[in-house]
Amino acid sequence: MTTFSKGLEGIVAAETAISYIDGTNGILEYVGIPIGELASKSTFEETVFLLWNQRLPTKGELAAFTTDLRARYELPEGMLERIAAAPTDAEPMHVLRTMVSALSMFDPNPNENTVEAARDKALNILAWTPSIVAAFDRNRRGLAPVAPDTSLGFSANFLYMLNDTKPTDAMIRAFDICMITHADHGLNNSTFTARVIISTLSDMYSAITGAIGSLRGPLHGGANEGVMKMLNEIDSVADAEAYVMGKFERKERIMGFGHRVYKAKDPRATELMSLAKQLADDTGNSDLYEKSHAIEQIMDREVAAKGIYPNVDFYSATTYHCIGLKLDLFTPMFALSRIAGWAGHVIEQLGDNRLFRPTVNYVGPHNVPYVPIDER
Ligand code: COA
Repeated sequence: MTTFSKGLEGIVAAETAISYIDGTNGILEYVGIPIGELASKSTFEETVFLLWNQRLPTKGELAAFTTDLRARYELPEGMLERIAAAPTDAEPMHVLRTMVSALSMFDPNPNENTVEAARDKALNILAWTPSIVAAFDRNRRGLAPVAPDTSLGFSANFLYMLNDTKPTDAMIRAFDICMITHADHGLNNSTFTARVIISTLSDMYSAITGAIGSLRGPLHGGANEGVMKMLNEIDSVADAEAYVMGKFERKERIMGFGHRVYKAKDPRATELMSLAKQLADDTGNSDLYEKSHAIEQIMDREVAAKGIYPNVDFYSATTYHCIGLKLDLFTPMFALSRIAGWAGHVIEQLGDNRLFRPTVNYVGPHNVPYVPIDER
C-alpha cells in the first residue's frame, strides 16, 4: 500500500521520545517538559543533556557534562587556518556547513556509530561550532580569533569569543533562552535530513553537515534573517499596515509566520516575544519590537483564521539583533542550538535504525525510442 503526500505532510516517518508538538494547542515539550518551563528554569547545557539522555541530569551528572563540554572547546589543530582560508565575503552558514564537514577529518574514527561514540562526537561538534562561527566572523572583520574560555558556559563563551569582552549576565541568559527554545522541534526538515543520512549508517559529521544545509533555506531556519530584513524595510510602526497589505496583494509571504505543524501561536514565539520586548527596551531598540507587535496584530486580523501565527523566527530576529548579532549570524545561531536536537535524533535513530527509503510516483513517459544524437 502506498500513500502520496506532497511535502510528506501528515506522514509519520519515525518514532521519537525527544520532543512533542501539539500544533493545534500550541504545545512544545522536550521529553515531556513544557518549553516554557525549560526556558525559564533550565540552562542550555542541561537541556542538551535532557535531549541526549531523555531525562534531566542529577547535579553531579550536569557538572560532569558541563566540565566535559568546556574541556573540548578548543578546535583541533589546523581548523583555525582552514577557517582563515574561507573568503571573507562567504556566507557564515556555508562556512559553518563546510567546517563541520571538515571536522570529520580530525576524528580518528569518524565512522564509529555506536550510541556512545555518536554521543561523544556530538559533544565535540557542539563544543567546536561556536569557535567556528566566532573565528570566521572575527576574521572577516580583520580581527584575530579569541581563544575559548573554559571557565565560561556555552552561551557566555560564544559571546566572549565573538566580541572579546565578557558579556553581561542579562545577555548570557537571553542567549541561553534562545539556545534552549531552538534546540529541538520534532521531525522538522533539517532533523529529518539528519535522520535520513544516519539511517544509511553514514556518520555523525555527515548527518550534521546535511542538516545545516537544510536549515539555511528561507522556508526553514533562514526565515529569521528574512524577518529582520522586513523590519528594516518598514520605516515606522505607522508603515506596517501598508507594508503587510502590499505583501498580501503581491501574494508574498510574511517571514516569521505560518508553520506546517502549528495552527496556533508557536509557544517558542510566546517565550521569545517577552524576551524580545525586554531586550529591545534595554538596548534602545523598542521600535523593532513595536513594529513586530504591529505586524502580529495585522496578521492576527487578516490570516489567523487560516491558522497562520508567528513562529519561532518572528521574535528571535529582534532578540538576536538586540544581543548584538549581525544579520547573517542569525541562522548560524539557530544551527548552534539545533545541533543538540539533530544529534539527539541521530543517537535515537542509531538505537533503532531502519534505512529511510520512500518511493516516488513516476509521472514521465514509457517506452520512448532512443533517437541517435545526429537525428535529434
Ligand atoms: N505569509 C502569508 N501567507 C502564508 C504564510 C506567510 N508566512 N505562510 C503560509 N501562508 C499561506 C499560503 O499562502 C497558503 O495560502 P493559500 O492556501 O491561500 O495558497 C497557506 O497559508 C498554506 O501555505 P503552505 O505553503 O501550503 O504551508 P506549508 O505548511 O507548506 O508552509 C511554511 C509552511 C513555514 C513554509 C510557510 O508558512 C512559510 O513560507 N512561512 C514563511 C517562512 C517562515 O517563517 N519559515 C519558518 C518556519 S519555522
